[in-house]
Amino acid sequence: MYYHYHLLCSCIESRLGRPITPEELTPTEETRQQNRKQYGDFGASLVTRLASMGLGAEYMSHAVNEVVIEMGEPDVAEAYRKINRDEAFHVQIGKVGLERYALTREDQTRAWEAAMETAKLHVVAYEALFNRARAAA
Ligand SMILES: [Fe+2]
Repeated sequence: MYYHYHLLCSCIESRLGRPITPEELTPTEETRQQNRKQYGDFGASLVTRLASMGLGAEYMSHAVNEVVIEMGEPDVAEAYRKINRDEAFHVQIGKVGLERYALTREDQTRAWEAAMETAKLHVVAYEALFNRARAAA
């Protein structure tokens, strides 16, 4: 995970021409809200956590990253190409985990709801992040 941020920091720092400071990397309120849901409500059970992380967040990240790989500047696309190999694996962890642990109809329903709600929060968080980036450009 750390490695992903290092890759993206390199892209930003090459544009800024200086090191980036931790104060410049504050998450948006929308990202904080997503994280609270993922690690709070959905973190309370293995099934909802696997669904929230693996299918709600990682799956969505992987899909958005594919667009960045296709449309982004070369160094950014290259960073996301590396990142997305990990994201694909993270999605697999969620899928394999749910196949193993979401065995009842009730758990499968809870998993579906956790994945869908997280995916929606993730899209909102991406939009806020991209809006912030556009405003700063
Ligand atoms: Fe991931």
